[in-house]
Amino acid sequence: MIEIAFSILAADPLNVERDVTRLLDAGADLLHLDIMDGHFVPNISFGPGMVKALDARFPPVRKDVHLMISDPGRYLSGFIDAGADEITIHLEIEQDVPALLKAIRGAGRKAGLSIKPGTELARIFPYLSMCDLILLMTVEPGFGGQKIIASALDRLGQLRAAGFSGVLSVDGGVTGENCFGLTRLGATRLVMGTAAVQAEDPRALFAGCRGAHPR
Ligand code: DX5
Ligand code: ZN
Repeated sequence: MIEIAFSILAADPLNVERDVTRLLDAGADLLHLDIMDGHFVPNISFGPGMVKALDARFPPVRKDVHLMISDPGRYLSGFIDAGADEITIHLEIEQDVPALLKAIRGAGRKAGLSIKPGTELARIFPYLSMCDLILLMTVEPGFGGQKIIASALDRLGQLRAAGFSGVLSVDGGVTGENCFGLTRLGATRLVMGTAAVQAEDPRALFAGCRGAHPR
Protein backbone atom coordinates (compact mmCIF):
# COMPACT_ATOMS: atom_id res chain seq x y z
CA MET A 1 0.00 0.00 0.00
CA ILE A 2 1.56 3.30 -1.08
CA GLU A 3 1.07 6.37 1.13
CA ILE A 4 1.23 9.90 -0.17
CA ALA A 5 2.46 12.45 2.39
CA PHE A 6 1.85 16.09 1.47
CA SER A 7 4.87 18.21 2.47
CA ILE A 8 3.34 21.48 3.67
CA LEU A 9 6.62 23.32 3.14
CA ALA A 10 5.34 23.72 -0.42
CA ALA A 11 1.99 25.20 0.67
CA ASP A 12 1.24 28.90 0.25
CA PRO A 13 2.26 30.22 3.71
CA LEU A 14 -0.77 32.49 3.70
CA ASN A 15 -3.12 29.68 2.69
CA VAL A 16 -1.92 26.52 4.38
CA GLU A 17 -5.43 25.42 5.36
CA ARG A 18 -6.63 25.86 1.77
CA ASP A 19 -3.75 23.88 0.26
CA VAL A 20 -3.91 21.11 2.89
CA THR A 21 -7.69 20.77 2.41
CA ARG A 22 -7.27 20.60 -1.37
CA LEU A 23 -4.63 17.86 -1.21
CA LEU A 24 -6.32 15.81 1.47
CA ASP A 25 -9.51 15.96 -0.62
CA ALA A 26 -7.40 14.75 -3.55
CA GLY A 27 -6.36 11.68 -1.55
CA ALA A 28 -3.15 12.54 0.34
CA ASP A 29 -2.89 10.08 3.25
CA LEU A 30 -0.98 12.20 5.76
CA LEU A 31 0.88 15.50 6.28
CA HIS A 32 4.66 15.84 6.22
CA LEU A 33 5.95 18.76 8.28
CA ASP A 34 9.51 19.92 7.62
CA ILE A 35 10.95 21.52 10.72
CA MET A 36 14.12 23.47 9.94
CA ASP A 37 16.33 25.31 12.46
CA GLY A 38 18.62 27.31 10.14
CA HIS A 39 21.55 25.40 11.63
CA PHE A 40 21.26 21.74 10.64
CA VAL A 41 19.97 23.01 7.29
CA PRO A 42 20.39 26.53 5.81
CA ASN A 43 16.71 27.39 6.09
CA ILE A 44 14.17 28.12 8.82
CA SER A 45 10.59 26.85 8.48
CA PHE A 46 8.08 26.47 11.33
CA GLY A 47 7.78 24.91 14.80
CA PRO A 48 5.43 22.98 17.11
CA GLY A 49 2.83 25.73 16.70
CA MET A 50 2.20 24.64 13.12
CA VAL A 51 1.82 21.02 14.22
CA LYS A 52 -0.62 22.09 16.91
CA ALA A 53 -2.68 24.22 14.52
CA LEU A 54 -2.89 21.44 11.94
CA ASP A 55 -3.76 18.91 14.65
CA ALA A 56 -6.62 21.12 15.82
CA ARG A 57 -7.90 21.72 12.27
CA PHE A 58 -7.32 18.22 10.85
CA PRO A 59 -7.41 15.97 13.93
CA PRO A 60 -7.71 12.57 12.24
CA VAL A 61 -4.89 13.21 9.74
CA ARG A 62 -1.52 11.80 10.73
CA LYS A 63 1.32 14.33 11.14
CA ASP A 64 4.70 13.04 10.00
CA VAL A 65 7.20 15.48 11.52
CA HIS A 66 10.63 15.64 9.89
CA LEU A 67 13.10 17.27 12.28
CA MET A 68 15.89 18.86 10.27
CA ILE A 69 17.30 20.33 13.46
CA SER A 70 20.60 19.85 15.30
CA ASP A 71 19.13 19.42 18.77
CA PRO A 72 15.93 17.34 18.45
CA GLY A 73 16.22 16.14 22.06
CA ARG A 74 15.56 19.65 23.28
CA TYR A 75 12.29 19.98 21.31
CA LEU A 76 10.92 16.41 21.26
CA SER A 77 8.35 16.88 24.03
CA GLY A 78 7.11 20.06 22.36
CA PHE A 79 6.37 18.23 19.11
CA ILE A 80 4.85 15.27 20.94
CA ASP A 81 2.56 17.58 22.95
CA ALA A 82 1.67 19.48 19.76
CA GLY A 83 0.24 16.30 18.24
CA ALA A 84 3.00 14.77 16.09
CA ASP A 85 2.15 11.15 15.25
CA GLU A 86 5.51 10.27 13.71
CA ILE A 87 8.81 11.96 14.46
CA THR A 88 11.88 11.57 12.28
CA ILE A 89 15.34 12.68 13.35
CA HIS A 90 18.49 12.79 11.25
CA LEU A 91 21.30 10.25 11.47
CA GLU A 92 23.83 13.08 11.08
CA ILE A 93 23.04 14.85 14.37
CA GLU A 94 25.62 14.86 17.15
CA GLN A 95 23.26 13.36 19.71
CA ASP A 96 22.36 9.91 21.01
CA VAL A 97 20.28 8.57 18.12
CA PRO A 98 19.20 5.28 19.83
CA ALA A 99 18.11 7.15 22.96
CA LEU A 100 16.09 9.64 20.90
CA LEU A 101 14.42 6.91 18.83
CA LYS A 102 13.59 5.08 22.07
CA ALA A 103 12.12 8.25 23.57
CA ILE A 104 9.92 8.80 20.50
CA ARG A 105 8.61 5.24 20.67
CA GLY A 106 8.30 5.52 24.44
CA ALA A 107 5.89 8.42 23.88
CA GLY A 108 3.76 6.16 21.68
CA ARG A 109 4.82 7.79 18.41
CA LYS A 110 6.36 6.21 15.34
CA ALA A 111 10.12 6.72 15.28
CA GLY A 112 11.85 7.63 12.03
CA LEU A 113 15.43 8.11 10.96
CA SER A 114 16.45 10.15 7.92
CA ILE A 115 19.69 10.05 5.95
CA LYS A 116 21.06 12.75 3.65
CA PRO A 117 22.14 11.85 0.11
CA GLY A 118 25.82 12.39 0.92
CA THR A 119 25.91 10.25 4.05
CA GLU A 120 27.27 6.72 3.66
CA LEU A 121 24.26 4.38 3.74
CA ALA A 122 25.93 1.76 5.93
CA ARG A 123 25.90 4.24 8.81
CA ILE A 124 22.14 3.72 9.19
CA PHE A 125 22.23 -0.10 9.28
CA PRO A 126 22.83 -0.41 13.07
CA TYR A 127 19.64 1.54 13.74
CA LEU A 128 17.16 -0.19 11.41
CA SER A 129 15.51 -2.23 14.17
CA MET A 130 14.96 0.93 16.25
CA CYS A 131 12.90 2.63 13.52
CA ASP A 132 9.36 2.33 12.27
CA LEU A 133 10.25 4.45 9.26
CA ILE A 134 13.32 5.34 7.23
CA LEU A 135 13.17 8.70 5.46
CA LEU A 136 15.44 8.55 2.45
CA MET A 137 16.43 12.06 1.37
CA THR A 138 16.56 12.33 -2.39
CA VAL A 139 17.57 15.99 -2.28
CA GLU A 140 19.94 17.91 -0.01
CA PRO A 141 17.57 18.82 2.84
CA GLY A 142 16.55 22.43 3.39
CA PHE A 143 14.43 23.41 0.43
CA GLY A 144 11.49 22.12 -1.55
CA GLY A 145 11.28 22.23 -5.33
CA GLN A 146 14.65 20.60 -6.01
CA LYS A 147 15.38 17.93 -8.63
CA ILE A 148 15.58 14.35 -7.37
CA ILE A 149 19.12 12.98 -6.94
CA ALA A 150 18.76 9.79 -8.99
CA SER A 151 21.85 8.14 -7.48
CA ALA A 152 20.02 7.95 -4.14
CA LEU A 153 17.42 5.56 -5.56
CA ASP A 154 19.70 2.51 -5.32
CA ARG A 155 19.48 2.94 -1.58
CA LEU A 156 15.88 1.73 -1.55
CA GLY A 157 16.87 -1.78 -2.59
CA GLN A 158 19.92 -1.71 -0.32
CA LEU A 159 17.76 -0.87 2.71
CA ARG A 160 15.37 -3.71 1.91
CA ALA A 161 18.35 -6.05 1.37
CA ALA A 162 19.67 -4.96 4.77
CA GLY A 163 16.42 -6.30 6.23
CA PHE A 164 14.42 -3.13 6.79
CA SER A 165 10.73 -4.01 6.47
CA GLY A 166 9.15 -0.83 7.84
CA VAL A 167 7.89 2.29 6.08
CA LEU A 168 10.38 3.35 3.43
CA SER A 169 9.68 7.01 2.67
CA VAL A 170 11.26 9.06 -0.13
CA ASP A 171 11.58 12.79 0.39
CA GLY A 172 12.52 15.44 -2.14
CA GLY A 173 11.90 15.88 -5.85
CA VAL A 174 9.15 13.25 -6.06
CA THR A 175 6.95 13.81 -9.14
CA GLY A 176 4.35 12.04 -11.25
CA GLU A 177 7.18 11.07 -13.61
CA ASN A 178 9.48 9.38 -11.07
CA CYS A 179 7.04 8.12 -8.42
CA PHE A 180 6.33 4.83 -10.19
CA GLY A 181 10.00 3.93 -10.29
CA LEU A 182 10.33 4.76 -6.61
CA THR A 183 7.54 2.43 -5.55
CA ARG A 184 8.88 -0.31 -7.82
CA LEU A 185 12.24 0.03 -6.03
CA GLY A 186 10.56 -0.49 -2.65
CA ALA A 187 9.35 2.93 -1.46
CA THR A 188 6.07 2.67 0.47
CA ARG A 189 5.62 6.37 1.21
CA LEU A 190 6.08 9.29 -1.18
CA VAL A 191 6.61 12.74 0.30
CA MET A 192 5.37 15.29 -2.21
CA GLY A 193 5.40 19.06 -1.88
CA THR A 194 5.94 21.05 -5.05
CA ALA A 195 4.57 18.45 -7.47
CA ALA A 196 1.38 18.12 -5.39
CA VAL A 197 0.76 21.85 -5.00
CA GLN A 198 1.45 22.53 -8.68
CA ALA A 199 -0.66 19.63 -9.99
CA GLU A 200 -3.68 20.63 -12.08
CA ASP A 201 -5.35 17.43 -10.96
CA PRO A 202 -3.71 16.16 -7.75
CA ARG A 203 -6.24 13.32 -7.48
CA ALA A 204 -5.01 11.95 -10.83
CA LEU A 205 -1.40 12.53 -9.78
CA PHE A 206 -1.84 10.55 -6.56
CA ALA A 207 -3.80 7.81 -8.29
CA GLY A 208 -1.04 7.55 -10.90
CA CYS A 209 1.61 7.24 -8.20
CA ARG A 210 -0.41 4.45 -6.62
CA GLY A 211 -0.92 2.92 -10.06
CA ALA A 212 0.37 -0.56 -9.47
CA HIS A 213 -0.41 -0.37 -5.78
CA PRO A 214 -4.00 0.71 -5.16
CA ARG A 215 -4.59 2.46 -1.84
C1 DX5 B 1 13.34 19.14 1.91
C2 DX5 B 1 12.11 18.56 2.57
C3 DX5 B 1 11.11 17.96 1.59
C4 DX5 B 1 10.48 18.95 0.68
C5 DX5 B 1 9.67 18.23 -0.36
O1 DX5 B 1 14.31 19.41 2.88
O2 DX5 B 1 12.48 17.55 3.46
O3 DX5 B 1 10.05 17.35 2.34
O4 DX5 B 1 9.67 19.82 1.34
O5 DX5 B 1 10.19 18.63 -1.50
P1 DX5 B 1 9.44 18.74 -2.89
O6 DX5 B 1 8.84 20.10 -2.98
O7 DX5 B 1 10.56 18.51 -3.85
O8 DX5 B 1 8.39 17.65 -2.95
ZN1 ZN C 1 10.91 16.37 4.64
